[in-house]
Amino acid sequence: MNISFQAVSKWETGSSYPDISVLPLLANIFQCDIDALLGYPVEQRKILDYDDRYKTDDYYWGTQPSNMCYEVMKICPPQRPLRLLDVACGEGKNAVFFARNGYNVTAFDAVELALDKGWKFAKQAGVEVNFFQANLLDFRLDNEFDIIFCSGALHYVPQELRQEIFENYQKHTSAGGLHALNVFVRKPFVKSPSNTKKGRYKWISGELFTYYADWLICSCDERIFDCFSGGIPHQHCMDTMYALKQTEDE
Ligand SMILES: C[S@@+](CC[C@H](N)C(=O)[O-])C[C@H]1O[C@@H](n2cnc3c(N)ncnc32)[C@H](O)[C@@H]1O
Repeated sequence: MNISFQAVSKWETGSSYPDISVLPLLANIFQCDIDALLGYPVEQRKILDYDDRYKTDDYYWGTQPSNMCYEVMKICPPQRPLRLLDVACGEGKNAVFFARNGYNVTAFDAVELALDKGWKFAKQAGVEVNFFQANLLDFRLDNEFDIIFCSGALHYVPQELRQEIFENYQKHTSAGGLHALNVFVRKPFVKSPSNTKKGRYKWISGELFTYYADWLICSCDERIFDCFSGGIPHQHCMDTMYALKQTEDE
């Protein structure tokens, strides 16, 4: 950065601050946004972005389940009441689908408006989903699930929290249980608007699998797809993984 070590030392001791013009460079090096560098509580502001999307009566993410749900049903069919957790469930399209198909579903999201809509959707469908409000960054599990499902939300988790969150989720998964997860990954040749959005931390290609070295990876996949959200055509790259927890003697 062409900054003298004396200047850095002053930043470290708090006797001076970096010039405003170097903040973007610093944020880039630390893979965070400028608000985070300045100690501004980005997580709260960022989650509230969703309030606008969820205000209307229609379902922002639609009511059709994601394709991942069908894959979960193939790997862990609901032949007995399986306890499924939908992490950052949004308006509940996947949670309600699982409940309709006989899973015992718990689902959480940070945004209350999303949960209200999920609750209404479940009511219309005549099923029960245990919805609750929580922030994925600080909420940790203390009871067990057979399936943990998370679609479209793990890019809100900064790199330094991932190990801890996965350890907690893995510890609270039953033997033979399933994790079905997807993450947006960075590819230099895929330019998407969310590359620049604050509070989103894209993953490194393949990184997701590194947290599951001692699990059975049933399938993993990386795909580039077109997206039209926000009215601007762009692309994303996504890694999707289905992993089964193994016991010592398996
Ligand atoms: C792209 S949407 C996906 C919703 C849902 N999983 C689906 O597939 O329809 C991302 C969701 O993550 C939620 N979210 C973002 N940050 C969160 C956090 N820190 N804790 C819990 N939920 C969060 C948002 O409120 C939003 O509903």
